[in-house]
Amino acid sequence: MIFPAAPQDVHATAAFGVYLHWPFCLSKCPYCDFNSHVRHAAIDESRYLRAFTAEIAATAARVPGRTVSTIFFGGGTPSLMQPATVAAILDAIGQHWTIARDVEVTLEANPTSVEAARFRGYRAAGVNRVSLGVQALDDAALKALGRLHSAQEALDAVAIARAIFERYSFDLIYARPRQTPGEWASELKRAIAEAAEHLSLYQLTVEPGTPFAALKATGKLIVPDDDIGRDLYDTTQDICAGAGLPAYEISNHARPGAECRHNLVYWRGHEYAGIGPGAHGRLNSGGQRYATETEKRPEAWLMRVESLGHGVIVDDKLNTGEQADEYLLMGLRLAEGIDPARYAALAGRDLDPRRISNLREQGAVETTAAGRLRVTLSGFPVLDAVVADLAA
Ligand SMILES: C[S@@+](CC[C@H](N)C(=O)[O-])C[C@H]1O[C@@H](n2cnc3c(N)ncnc32)[C@H](O)[C@@H]1O
Ligand code: SF4
Repeated sequence: MIFPAAPQDVHATAAFGVYLHWPFCLSKCPYCDFNSHVRHAAIDESRYLRAFTAEIAATAARVPGRTVSTIFFGGGTPSLMQPATVAAILDAIGQHWTIARDVEVTLEANPTSVEAARFRGYRAAGVNRVSLGVQALDDAALKALGRLHSAQEALDAVAIARAIFERYSFDLIYARPRQTPGEWASELKRAIAEAAEHLSLYQLTVEPGTPFAALKATGKLIVPDDDIGRDLYDTTQDICAGAGLPAYEISNHARPGAECRHNLVYWRGHEYAGIGPGAHGRLNSGGQRYATETEKRPEAWLMRVESLGHGVIVDDKLNTGEQADEYLLMGLRLAEGIDPARYAALAGRDLDPRRISNLREQGAVETTAAGRLRVTLSGFPVLDAVVADLAA
């Protein structure tokens, strides 16, 4: 299979992203293992806002002078936040760092009518891209996934997003219980008709510890086996590429130039601040690279920030070998692949040519005309094994 051209290359220019985690949801979906929590008492947003502001200030003191190219409100369900809270967080970012004129500001939203009613407020606050968790265009499937919205409500939210934001994307989950490639193909084509420039298409993962894992263990949840999973994956690639939305990352499809720039910051190994409960960051300071992680439990994070000024509980200096492994792990998710010279500079050694040629013979990797190493479409389903082999 042929890959699309690589997205516009920004490797030379170091990008700086800010990720903000809003950890609350109205209900917990049975497949989800994200850091998301349901609270029956009202959330004191102004208290969280003060903590977000404090953590932004503390991070900026560590990595001052950055120009922020992307901002991402993820969750949980950030579309439960008041637009005024989002506006105040964006103001705080602007007080401590320079915000690029063409900054991408994404907010993840659940597609209920209540949340769509806030879209105009988010736009006024400075959000210019929304990512909607549509998940399925079928009411029975949505119910089985524990979602609180119908397919029509999701389509209405997509239409509102289209009218209000310059850019929008939506997520679908496939390889759902009993889903056939034929059913998925028609659902995906309907989705593409609604999508403008970007779609995230995730194969259902049964995460340990979730209600779905318990159902699977007792035989009450039957998910497609590996062969059907592979068929579903191939169907996804063929339909999306044919519609001008090729994969630029293992689960993300975009018209060339419309990739989510924030996610590219992670996959290209650039720098990003992680703000809010359970957020991860990668910060460069004093010639070192640090992996940061904040306290996950929302109330414990809040108290930590209120007493210490930040919620960081992991702050590890990454040695160059660890940075090289991370570059491989993240970069090989991208259709554009990795620069072997950047890997070698970090690892202090080249990738093993024999391992590369074995993988090439198996059709799992290829080298581009520009000398980049990338995983092929047929290698993507076994990406973990490819990375493990190359990193060994
Ligand atoms: C942070 S989550 C959710 C954003 C938002 N709260 C929502 O649910 O609409 C981002 C995306 O990950 C995907 N996702 C979450 N858990 C998954 C799982 N177990 N398997 C596959 N995709 C999953 C969903 O498509 C979801 O929209
Ligand atoms: S999938 Fe989204 S809405 Fe559902 S629990 Fe996870 S973060 Fe919350």
